[in-house]
Formats: sequence, structure tokens, C-alpha cells
Amino acid sequence: MQAEIVVLPGDGVGPEVMDEAVRVLEAVADLAGHDFSFRELLVGGAAIAETSHPLPEETLRACRTADGVLLAAVGGPPVRIRPNEEPVRPEQGLLGLRRELGVYANLRPVRVYPQLLGASPLRDEQGAGVNLVIVRELTGGLYFGDRMEAGAELTDDTTAYDTMVYQAREVERIAHVGFKLAAKRRRNVVSVDKANVLASSRLWRRVVERTAAAYADVECESMLVDAAAMHLLRRPKTFDVVLTANLFGDILADEASMLVGSLAMLPSASLSDEGPGLFEPVHGSAPDLAGQGVANPIGMILSGAMFLRHGLGLEAEAKTVEEAVERVLDDGWRTQDLAVNGQSAVGTREFGDLVLGALNAGGEGGE
Ligand code: IPM
Ligand code: MG
Repeated sequence: MQAEIVVLPGDGVGPEVMDEAVRVLEAVADLAGHDFSFRELLVGGAAIAETSHPLPEETLRACRTADGVLLAAVGGPPVRIRPNEEPVRPEQGLLGLRRELGVYANLRPVRVYPQLLGASPLRDEQGAGVNLVIVRELTGGLYFGDRMEAGAELTDDTTAYDTMVYQAREVERIAHVGFKLAAKRRRNVVSVDKANVLASSRLWRRVVERTAAAYADVECESMLVDAAAMHLLRRPKTFDVVLTANLFGDILADEASMLVGSLAMLPSASLSDEGPGLFEPVHGSAPDLAGQGVANPIGMILSGAMFLRHGLGLEAEAKTVEEAVERVLDDGWRTQDLAVNGQSAVGTREFGDLVLGALNAGGEGGE
């Protein structure tokens, strides 16, 4: 198979973890006889520094026509381009890209690795066996509603607002994604909202419950977000598909990463109904770690696996990547965020080398 892949390393540790994901995809292409080409472009702070824009036209154009977009991380200080205008934020590049690609469905699988139980701050029996997916609505809600920043249009700094808006059709299409996914899993959806306070959540709940009727063999329960945050830690194993709005999904994914042990473990796929998907780890740019070669590349590498699965339909290849990562963890290798009780840690490049070694060995084993 031929595929053109846009690579957006972005900011902070982004370039370091992206290098490893690209090497892994190159190895997969070699092993399975695919022809992947990679085009690296600018987004976020890196793009602002070069072009004064967080999402340059050239980047967007290339993304639209690609078979898939890999993005590592954006984030950093806002930059004032012109004296009388609001400063530009790196995150605007990512949000703009999500909106322009129409990738409304963000899948964030959370799977606890038995090898890593010790790395979680929770008791071992708490996390063991957890296997859930957060289905986060990604192009609506509080992130994209009307907003006014303090100091932006006012003469003083006294007021700011953001609005949480949902259209029924936006809720319905993400609900279908959640129910379809659940139908292939353990057939359980927990829809998370704040319907006791928010009007947009009451619409969300009505539409989700109505959509549920079409999936008779999938169980559906609505849960308030504060309770969900608690139950996610109290009884995480009972969750299968967590269906939720943009902001709630952002927060719950970081919370759920603590079941696994590190935020850097979680991959994600952002999908539309047509056109390329955006594949990005859940973690941010981690400026404090940047340039040291110590960042954990697993979330980025596994996002590459999600690209193989959801972007190209290469399920077997996606599995080989996931199994290679697991084998490296089985063998006891840890990056610094996962190392506990005096375990020694390897760096980003070394971990990538280990995954490549496991991939190649897997191929020889005839798996
Ligand atoms: C995420 C990130 C982004 C978000 C930021 C970088 C804008 O936290 O993908 O979870 O809030 O969606
Ligand atoms: Mg986040």
C-alpha cells in the first residue's frame, strides 16, 4: 500500500517522540512491503517562530490531501506578533487543524499494561484489567463556542467568557461513533455530561439517549461528569466506552492516564467521516523535558499504530507495533516516567531502538 503521511513534530518534546514514531512506521513499511512517504511541516510554536502563524497555509494544504497526519505536540508561550493584537498561541494551530480537517471523533484508548501496574499511583488491583476508550467530541463545545478574552475587546480586564454550544447533529454523530465502537467491544456506553447544570448537556443527554435506541444490544447510561471522574478511579474496570463532550473528554483522559501510569502512554486518533485522520498522543509538549532525549515516545508510537488501523485499515500491522511495544515493556525496559523503585531508565532514542528490535524479531518469528 502507498501512503503519504504529513508529519507535524510541533513543540517541546514533539520532535523527539515523532522521530521514533516515524522510524517505527518506516520499519513496518519495510517489513510488510508498503510504500510510505513522509512530509514534515510546521505547526504550533515552531510555526509561529518561522511564519508568525500557528497553522501555515502550506501545512493545512498538505494535511488536507494526505492519507494521514501525525502530530506530536504543540504548546508554549503565546507570542505577540503585532502590538495592538492579542498574542498568538501555539494551541491555535492544533485547534485550527482539528476544525479544518473536521475530525470530530477523538478516540483515546486507555489500556492498563500488567507490566506497568507498579508505575501507577493507584493500588495495583485498581488498575488491573482496565480497558476502556474515551470517545471525545473534538470540534464543538466549549473549545469552539463564541469567546471573549479579558483585555481583548474591552478596555479593561474585568470580564471574559467562553460558550459551550452543541447542535443536536454534532451530538448525534459522535454518539453513533461511540455506540458503533461499543458494539464491537463490551457493548457498554457511559455518556458523561453535566445535565444537572448545563443546557448543552441536557441536549447532549436527550440526543444520546435517543440515538441509543438504534443500538438495542448496547447498554447506555448517562453519568454526571463529577461522578464519572470519581467512578473512573473507584471502579475503572467497569467502563467500556466513555462518550463525552470536548472539555470533559480532555480532562477525563488525563485522569485516566494515571490508571496506566503515565500520560505519555496514551495515543489518540481524531477522525472525520471522510478525509485524513489526525493521530496524536494525549500528552503535551512537556517543555521541561524538551531536548534532553528522555521523553517517553510510546503514546506517539501507538498513535502511529492507530494511524495504521484507522487511517489505512492495516489492522495486522497496527497489532505488530502494539505487540512490539508490549514486548519491550515485558523485557523490563522503562523510560524515566515509568521507572519506579530504582529501576533504570532508557532514553527516547534507545526506547525507539528497542521497539524496532522487537518489530524485526517479531517478523522473523513468523507471527
Ligand atoms: C489534548 C490537549 C489539547 C486539548 C490542547 C493542547 C489544546 O490537551 O489533546 O488533550 O485541550 O485538546
Ligand atoms: Mg489534554
